[in-house]
Amino acid sequence: MANKKVIAVFGATGAQGGSVAKAILESKNFAVRAVTRDVTQPKAVVLRDLGAEVIKGDLNDEASVEAALKGAYGAFVVTNFWEHLSKKKEVCQGKMVADAAKRLGLQHVVYSGLENVKRLSGGKLEVPHFDGKGEVEEYFWAIGVPMTSVRLAAYFENFLSMWKPVKAADGDYYSLALPMADIPMDGISVADVGPVVSSIFSSPEELLGKAVGLSAEALTVQQYADVLSKILGKKVRDAKITPEAYEKLGFPAAEEIANMCRFYQTRPDRDVKLTHRLNPKVKSFSQFISENQGALKDM
Ligand SMILES: NC(=O)c1ccc[n+]([C@@H]2O[C@H](COP(=O)([O-])OP(=O)(O)OC[C@H]3O[C@@H](n4cnc5c(N)ncnc54)[C@H](OP(=O)(O)O)[C@@H]3O)[C@@H](O)[C@H]2O)c1
Repeated sequence: MANKKVIAVFGATGAQGGSVAKAILESKNFAVRAVTRDVTQPKAVVLRDLGAEVIKGDLNDEASVEAALKGAYGAFVVTNFWEHLSKKKEVCQGKMVADAAKRLGLQHVVYSGLENVKRLSGGKLEVPHFDGKGEVEEYFWAIGVPMTSVRLAAYFENFLSMWKPVKAADGDYYSLALPMADIPMDGISVADVGPVVSSIFSSPEELLGKAVGLSAEALTVQQYADVLSKILGKKVRDAKITPEAYEKLGFPAAEEIANMCRFYQTRPDRDVKLTHRLNPKVKSFSQFISENQGALKDM
């Protein structure tokens, strides 16, 4: 371990970073330095037991980011918009890591980015949790950090929580409400992202300086509903909700998700073939639901 190159992993106690840290540890190609604000939490302890160096670091504290990156060969960087709902804060965190990576001469950063929808749409559409990551991607490249951006499709895990089918008031079926019309939406289990990122670190040449969209497969809402119906043995249907109706649902992120789906309807580039090449074990939605149906047993 002592003479292996080090990859600093931000968000290592979370879904993306956790998957990445574990996959890199399994590959044995690099040593992992897991960064967390709380080194005593159970997920940090598990990472230490798996062989990671676990250090305290906060994306709002420049000195700790610098210490986390010092001496590292590379870094996986994810920022969590949903913790504060501020594009400004997310951009600030991302640019601070980029500046530190530049100063310290990191050789490869894999950044969990997304498209700058506001710029791409000429200001017509804003999706703050995409736009900020898009600005940070542009900044990494502008200042000359060797960086690969991984743009993740919607997590399949969302179907176990915020996109869980809801029992229809007027019948014994469940409806799946996502404003995608009949356009396929890409998805991936976040647990399958780690091996993709580990492959990118192990063979950097092909994807250095590029953005790559990750997806296991793209299904229409009715196709997602069909998979759920078949595996759960319950009738699940596409609610056929429009973005206009969705944004009026009234929960805090309704407008954000409606705008995200408006953008998804333009079919942003998500490379299913490349994702399967980088992680041959990437799961289909059907496999994912079969393995996780316990989480939907109260439906
Ligand atoms: N859900 C989706 O379908 C989807 C798809 C594509 C992209 N995304 C993006 O994924 C991101 C969230 O990633 P995730 O799902 O892995 O989140 P998560 O499971 O909630 O984990 C968040 C991680 O971020 C770390 N973190 C948060 N604030 C930090 C700070 N100030 N300093 C250091 N670490 C900090 C946390 O570490 P500690 O608490 O241990 O410090 C934790 O490990 C969001 O920005 C979202 O836009 C989501």
